[in-house]
Amino acid sequence: MAVTKNTLPDRAAILNARSVEETVRLMKARLAGIVPEIEIAAKGELAFEINQLKRQRNAVILGHNYMEPALYHSVPDYVGDSLELSRISAKTEADLIVFCGVQFMAETAKILNPQKMILIPAQKAGCSLAEGIKAEDVRRLKSAYPGAPVVSYVNTYADVKAESDYCCTSGNAAAVVRYLLGKGHNRVIFLPDEYLARNTAHDLGLQFVLPDEPIDPAKPAIIGWRARCEVHELYKTEDVINARKQFPGVVILAHPECHPDVIALADMAGSTKQMVEYVKNVDAPRYLLLTECSMGDNLAAEFPHREMVRACSLRCKHMNLITLQDTLASLQNLQYQVELPPDIIQRARLPIDRMLEIK
Ligand code: 13P
Ligand code: SF4
Repeated sequence: MAVTKNTLPDRAAILNARSVEETVRLMKARLAGIVPEIEIAAKGELAFEINQLKRQRNAVILGHNYMEPALYHSVPDYVGDSLELSRISAKTEADLIVFCGVQFMAETAKILNPQKMILIPAQKAGCSLAEGIKAEDVRRLKSAYPGAPVVSYVNTYADVKAESDYCCTSGNAAAVVRYLLGKGHNRVIFLPDEYLARNTAHDLGLQFVLPDEPIDPAKPAIIGWRARCEVHELYKTEDVINARKQFPGVVILAHPECHPDVIALADMAGSTKQMVEYVKNVDAPRYLLLTECSMGDNLAAEFPHREMVRACSLRCKHMNLITLQDTLASLQNLQYQVELPPDIIQRARLPIDRMLEIK
């Protein structure tokens, strides 16, 4: 009998399992063919402990779409992309938020919930984009382009957000820039991801320049920065060409942190949530995601009636630091608490709130 979506336990069933044995059984059913059974036996025990402790502490666990499959399918109350998780963290009534994602995401949750304890299971879960720009760089750009609003990708640290006018994510970058053009701005500083900025400029028909390049005054411009995602920049046009030869009918979904030439060859570009929605709703013979590779595994488990091409080995070393062991230790020892100076929280909140108001 073919396995269909409805025959498999969902995340809620795993979260509410009443014993280690039940947790392991449900995880094995959900993750069959994705995670080896021997690994699930050990991870199921950790997941059960985490879910019990989470209830005792009135905690909520948020999991980014790049979490490894056993964790992704067993402990987060909510999964999603950066924007979705920011929105959820702004609304939760839990006393404690454990953020299974990287530092800039946990900082965003802290900015939106300054009175709550926010925990991140690994202390050094960074991001090449967030590390690619400093607050002093933003101050220099603001004085080089007076009057141009600063849009910071959510993949930035709180002190950079504090210097910014708007935030955006990969899911709403074009909407935020379009909104600013509608307000009469013809130059927008967009930080720090060069490729997301180039792709957004292309989508909106704008010119793109880097800070030391000349601007054509007749045309609205995005002024970008030179940071890149160390994972997505590794995808090349040949990967798309080869995948199409090898997997007939494959639909290729690329994250907008990829090079514009890769995006031009893909069938769809969007945030990780937009990729989930696409695979859920659009019928295709098979799908290949050009993004962090755990996500292909996660969707293969979530949508067993869909064929995910899992010819992918690019992992984000920062996201990869978040494990079930460390998530348990995080809840047991209340580590690692995200702390930010109150004035930074106050100033960084404004660009996030402005972003959340733009539909
Ligand atoms: P999303 O907001 O699309 O989930 O992306 C976050 C990220 O870090 C991509 O590399
Ligand atoms: Fe940062 Fe890239 Fe990792 Fe996303 S995948 S957290 S952008 S380094």
